[in-house]
Amino acid sequence: MNYRASWQSPSNIALVKYWGKHGIQLPRNPSLSFTLARCLTKMTVEVNVDAALPGLTVMYDGWPRPAFEAKILTFFDLIGDRFPWLRGSHVHIDSVNTFPHGAGIASSASAMSALALCLMDIRDQIGGPNSKPGGEWWQEVSVVARLGSGSACRSVYPGAAIWGVADGIAGSHDAYAIPWSDRIDPLYRDFRDTILIVSGAEKAVSSTAGHALMNDLAYAVTRYAEARRHLGVLADAMSRADALDIFIAVCESEALQLHALMMSGPAPFILMEPGTVAIIKEVWRYRRDTGIPVCFTLDAGPNVHLLYPDANAGEVMGWVRDVLVRHCADGQYIEDHVGSGPQRLIG
Ligand code: PMV
Repeated sequence: MNYRASWQSPSNIALVKYWGKHGIQLPRNPSLSFTLARCLTKMTVEVNVDAALPGLTVMYDGWPRPAFEAKILTFFDLIGDRFPWLRGSHVHIDSVNTFPHGAGIASSASAMSALALCLMDIRDQIGGPNSKPGGEWWQEVSVVARLGSGSACRSVYPGAAIWGVADGIAGSHDAYAIPWSDRIDPLYRDFRDTILIVSGAEKAVSSTAGHALMNDLAYAVTRYAEARRHLGVLADAMSRADALDIFIAVCESEALQLHALMMSGPAPFILMEPGTVAIIKEVWRYRRDTGIPVCFTLDAGPNVHLLYPDANAGEVMGWVRDVLVRHCADGQYIEDHVGSGPQRLIG
């Protein structure tokens, strides 16, 4: 018997960063992210539950990718109790990203959330717990996505999400993310994120290795406390339209702390490139000179996410083209914005 499901799921950008984990992909501190609109994975999963030869094949951007199979099989082991039919099946995954290859954009959040959605969809078709996609269904998608890649658990909701137990945030949990879009001011619901591609090179240090470094870091305890404090301050600032200065201060501090942690261990590394620092200085100068509330955040890499209200898009994009694009690899940037979450695809 064959089953098939297709979903698209977005990437997300953390404003308060998840960096440090324990147990099976559990976070050391809560994180808060924007869900993106245009950086998506589109995935189709086909499952033959009575295949003569159980196994896995993975296609990525139209090409066979045996290199991805080991990671996905480890993930299947972790989720085997929820999807027992996976063990005797042949699974075929066909995955395409809408963002350019070699743009240095991490695809694990969009890919693992898309995979979680496809598997949950197929479980419903097979006749597992036949719940209609309601709140609990999405919560379970978030749990499954988290087991694939921690940050993926935040991609399943529109707008914004919080993952990890956070003071004063009712319902927050380490095992899954919760939707946060209803709690933010409309100003943030269509915020822009222009991703400046400073380098498209593969990550020099995997996020798995990065999280592991936190285990031996002298500053780790202070960092986790600071992240918890930042989350409370940011959640409060985003609930209203008159606290953009606080939003900016927390976002930029989080980005720089993430990179400072990488530079502070016994085997330090630097993921920023000269262009990253040049852009940060340009952002500070532009904001001071114009008063336009644009700020930056960084992922675990050299690219810069410029965050700003939709109302300022015209002038900010003019400045990007006039001034910032010269720091981008081949002039590349992606114009993204806060998005509406995953979507089931026909086919
Ligand atoms: O989900 P992972 O294990 O790839 O970790 C993601 C870590 C950061 O992207 C740096 C921060 C975050 O919260 O997304």
